[in-house]
Amino acid sequence: MGQGKFITLEGTEGVGKTTNLRLISEEVAGAGHPVLTTREPGGTPLAEEIRELLLAVREEPMTGTSELLLMFAARAQHLATVIKPALASGQWVVCDRFTDATYAYQGGGRGLDQDVIESLENIVQGGLQPDLTIYLDVSVEVAARRIAARNHDRFEREQVEFFERVRAAYLERAASQPRIRVVDASVDLAEVQTSLRVLLGEFLSDSS
Ligand SMILES: Nc1ncnc2c1ncn2[C@@H]1O[C@H](COP(=O)(O)OP(=O)(O)OP(=O)(O)O)[C@@H](O)[C@H]1O
Ligand SMILES: [Mg+2]
Repeated sequence: MGQGKFITLEGTEGVGKTTNLRLISEEVAGAGHPVLTTREPGGTPLAEEIRELLLAVREEPMTGTSELLLMFAARAQHLATVIKPALASGQWVVCDRFTDATYAYQGGGRGLDQDVIESLENIVQGGLQPDLTIYLDVSVEVAARRIAARNHDRFEREQVEFFERVRAAYLERAASQPRIRVVDASVDLAEVQTSLRVLLGEFLSDSS
């Protein structure tokens, strides 16, 4: 069996990534591919511990550089122990967030240097990139309403301006990278899922 494909799902908080992850893996499985779903930061026991460190609300502020390094530490573990072995064995991997989120949050949101992010990306990933990235786009206001009832983690406590910068960074990246497909996720879930089925149908037929 050949190498599996790597699909990532991106967007700001509350756009519907986790809600749509299952639909995506079902479409892939329906086309006959074994599929593994996972998430970042996290996806292995150690990386999930790093996730907890990243999301916890605590008194001591975390510096942007600490945040960036922890993100890539979790990613290095996830890639080496889960993602790469799965792809090598022919499984398709569907991941809730990946490195585009680092460019959007730590780059766009926190204002960290893109070149520093790129250096870490090269160290951790070598040339590995997703084959397809689906960016779910929703205005910051609508996304905030969808998660209003939750207990907010360290990122979700950021201000509207932070998420505006994150969204702008995602859209800028999507405009320059053909692997990133933008889906309007502000509409009804059924409509979002119709768009996702069409997009995946095209990707799956191109991949067969
Ligand atoms: N198209 C939609 N229209 C209305 N509500 C939606 C839509 N998609 C998802 N939701 C709802 O919005 C909420 C947030 O969805 P979900 O948890 O999937 O977002 P997420 O992108 O995974 O968020 P996070 O980044 O915080 O993990 C859920 O209550 C979900 O049911
Ligand atoms: Mg989620």
